[in-house]
Amino acid sequence: MSPQEPHEPKAVATVMLKGGTTKSTITANTAEALGRAGYDVLTVDTDPNGHLTANLGYSDLYYDGDIDLGDIILSEGNAAPSDAIQSTNLGFDLLPASVALESVETRLKNEMQPSLCLKQRLVDPLLGDRYDYILMDTHSSRNALVNNAVVAAPNLLLPLIPEQGINSGLSRTQERIINPLKQKIDLKILAMVPNKLSQRIDHKNEDRRLIERICRSDSLSEYLPQFAHVKPETFDAIDADERRGSLPKPGLRKDSDLNDSFKQNKTLGAFNPENTQLEAFDELAEIVVQGEVSQ
Ligand SMILES: Nc1ncnc2c1ncn2[C@@H]1O[C@H](COP(=O)(O)OP(=O)(O)OP(=O)(O)O)[C@@H](O)[C@H]1O
Ligand SMILES: [Mg+2]
Repeated sequence: MSPQEPHEPKAVATVMLKGGTTKSTITANTAEALGRAGYDVLTVDTDPNGHLTANLGYSDLYYDGDIDLGDIILSEGNAAPSDAIQSTNLGFDLLPASVALESVETRLKNEMQPSLCLKQRLVDPLLGDRYDYILMDTHSSRNALVNNAVVAAPNLLLPLIPEQGINSGLSRTQERIINPLKQKIDLKILAMVPNKLSQRIDHKNEDRRLIERICRSDSLSEYLPQFAHVKPETFDAIDADERRGSLPKPGLRKDSDLNDSFKQNKTLGAFNPENTQLEAFDELAEIVVQGEVSQ
C-alpha cells in the first residue's frame, strides 16, 4: 500500500451498539496503520465518555479544553476544526471528546439538519483536502452523535468480540443504525472485525460460535478480513479430527500488548513495533483504502 496509488478519501466510523467491543482500539490502531502507510489521518472522538481521548493521553483536554466538537459543529459556535485538532506523536491527528459532549447531543436537536452537522462542518471541509482518511469513534448506545458520525462517515467498521450478547449487539446495530440510514445515504460496511479471540476453535465456545456463524453466512462472510477468515470446510475438517496440530487462529487475538498500550496512552505500534498483530491492522488500513475486503 502506498499513498502514491490512487485512492478515494474516506470517512470511516467504528460502530457497535454494545459497550466494550473494542471500538476505540480498532479506531486508534487502524488510524495508526493508515498513518504508517503514509496517509494523513484524523481521528474524531464522538463518544461523550471520551475513552479514546483518555486512552491516547488527552484527559486534560476532555475536562478542560477551550474549544470542543460542539463549538465546531453547532451553528451557535464559531470555531474552526483546526482550533480543536491535536497533532499526536502516533502518526495521526485527534479531535478529542469533551465532557460537554452530552450537552452537544441535546443541542443538536435544535439544529435545522440535526444529523448533518458533523458532515457539513467537519468532514466536508477537511476530507480530501487536509486529510485522506477521517476515522470516527462512537458511543455504544444510539444517540444523536452516533447518527451524526455515521452520516458523516458512512464507511463502517463493525468490531465483534466473543461474548454473550454480541449477536444482539450486531442485530441492534443493523436494525437501529444501518437499515434505517441505508434508506437515506450511501452506507457501506467495510469490515466486521472479530477481536479478543483466545480459544481453540476445535471446541464449541464463544470464539468458535462467533467466527463460524459469520464464515458460514453468505451475507456476512464477505465482510471478514483475511486474518479472521476460516473456510466453512475447515470447520468440517476440524470436527472430523483432521486438523490436529494445524488449527487456525482467526481474528485479532487477545493480547496483553493491545491492552497495555492503551493503559500507557499508546497505540500498538508505538507500544511494541514488533507485535505481529500490527499486520492485521495493516490489513484493516488496506480495506479502508480499497473500500472493501479483498476476497
Ligand atoms: N485484542 C485485545 N486483547 C486484549 N485487550 C484488548 C484487545 N483489544 C482491546 N482490548 C482492551 O479491551 C478494552 C475495551 O476496548 P475499547 O475501549 O477499545 O472498547 P470500546 O468498544 O471502545 O468500549 P466503550 O464501549 O467503553 O467505548 C480496553 O481495555 C482495550 O485496551
Ligand atoms: Mg470506546
